[in-house]
This record gives sequence, C-alpha cells and structure tokens, in this order.
Amino acid sequence: MARTAIVTGGTRGIGAAIAVALKQAGCNVAANYAGNDEAAQGFNAETGIPVYKWSVADYDACAGGIAQVEADLGPVDILVNNAGITRDAPFHKMTREQWTDVINTNLNGVFNMTHPVWNGMRERKFGRVITISSINGQKGQFAQANYSASKAGDLGFTKALAQEGARNGITVNAICPGYIGTDMVMAVPEKVREAIIAQIPVGRLGEADEIARCVVFLASDDAGFITGSTITANGGQYFT
Ligand SMILES: NC(=O)c1ccc[n+]([C@@H]2O[C@H](COP(=O)([O-])OP(=O)(O)OC[C@H]3O[C@@H](n4cnc5c(N)ncnc54)[C@H](OP(=O)(O)O)[C@@H]3O)[C@@H](O)[C@H]2O)c1
Repeated sequence: MARTAIVTGGTRGIGAAIAVALKQAGCNVAANYAGNDEAAQGFNAETGIPVYKWSVADYDACAGGIAQVEADLGPVDILVNNAGITRDAPFHKMTREQWTDVINTNLNGVFNMTHPVWNGMRERKFGRVITISSINGQKGQFAQANYSASKAGDLGFTKALAQEGARNGITVNAICPGYIGTDMVMAVPEKVREAIIAQIPVGRLGEADEIARCVVFLASDDAGFITGSTITANGGQYFT
C-alpha cells in the first residue's frame, strides 16, 4: 500500500523537490506551507499534490493540520521536517525576535510536527522521520547564531529520538545540505553568493533535487538499518 508522507515547507525550494520526488516514488504526499498562498496554489496546480497551510511553529496548528492530512490521506508514515527560515544578524545586533522566530520554526517546529505523529508510528511499527538541518548547524556561521543553534539542535534531536524509535521500526535521520540554489540562497546579494560558491570545491550550488534524492532513499525500506545518522550533501565544503 502507498505510504503517506508530509513534507513541511513542501511548496517551494527544497521541500517542493522532496514532495515531488516522494510522489514519484509512489507515496501519497501532503505539502505543508506557512503563508505564501500564491506559490502553494501554483505548486498544487503543477503537481497535483495537496497543500495544507499552517505554521510549524504552532503546536496546536500542527496537531490539527496533521489530523486533517490523516483524514484525507491516511496515517502518516513519513515525516519530512523541511520548513525553515533565516533571520541573520551578527549577535551584537540580533534581536530577541530574530532569535525566537528561528528557534520556534527550525527547532520547536520539528518537535511540534514529530510529537503528534510519533505514537501512531510506534503503534504501526513503522516510521520515517527525516529532518533537513544544515551545513551551518555543523560548522556554525557568522551572523547565524540563531540558525546554527536551531540546526545543531535538530541533529541532537535526531540522534536521541533514533534511539527511542529503533525497536518500533522507526528510523530518524537528518540531512545537512550545503548551499542550494533556492529562494533562501538567491535572496543573498550576488557578491556574497559568488563568495559562497568560491568556497564549494565542486564549484557550484547544489540542486534541490540532489537533496530530494537523499530523502527518498532514507524514506525507503532499503534504508531500514540507517538511523540516527546525518547525510552531508554540501559539494565538499565541509567534512564532519
Ligand atoms: N537553501 C539552502 O541552501 C539550504 C541549505 C541548508 C539547509 N537548508 C534548509 O532546507 C530547508 C528548506 O530550505 P529552502 O531553501 O528550500 O527554503 P525556502 O525556499 O525559503 O522555502 C521555505 C519553505 O518553508 C516554508 N515555511 C517557512 N516557515 C514555515 C512555518 N513556520 N511553517 C510552515 N512552513 C514554513 C515556506 O512556506 P511559504 O512558502 O508559505 O513561505 C516554504 O515552503 C530549510 O529548513 C533550510 O534551513 C537550506
């Protein structure tokens, strides 16, 4: 039977590529998003993947949204925690709001989405939780104390929860992309982007599809022995 997958932030960028790849792999996919209705409707029209609007930063909204997806598509077998934001500033200029927004979305959002699906996965003895962290959670990044902390937190979450899920057929893994050519990266000034590319040994930005293929593998039955791990996909920019 086709598995049901939710991809948070699944209507744009890396998440959209993941949603499409999981659909092509035979899953029933739900794509969540936060507020960009136009992008979401365009994505839905193009792919036929149903879209659901709620903020991963809001626990009750996540629980309600997941219940709606389960009513429409069936119990969630695969959760891809992809939604993420940046609010960059050097620490001496970083506001409490910039800190809290990023932690609430990138780290608390992972709790808010995983907690409501966890017991169902335990009962059904199958689950895949895949979280999109970041190279900057591994190495740190200037002006990203908030983002790097949230993404490093995602890796600790993954390693701890993998130990709890193992006996119940649930794998919990993370992917750390390097710089990928999505809106998030194209929003930085061109000069900064050129400087970033100069630091990537393969000499280019990554593509969203290259991350999506990692997700499809981790979500598959073939990856059942892999849990608590991190796939690093960064063009050789940083070795862990
Ligand atoms: N791009 C990179 O180079 C890169 C590198 C490493 C890691 N990552 C990580 O990869 C993930 C995807 O990045 P991206 O570049 O594809 O981002 P993006 O193009 O900016 O798209 C972000 C997606 O997340 C959604 N989103 C944001 N806040 C949300 C919230 N509170 N609740 C639900 N959905 C929310 C957005 O919804 P709306 O469309 O409604 O705004 C959008 O669909 C992020 O976790 C990011 O940190 C990206």
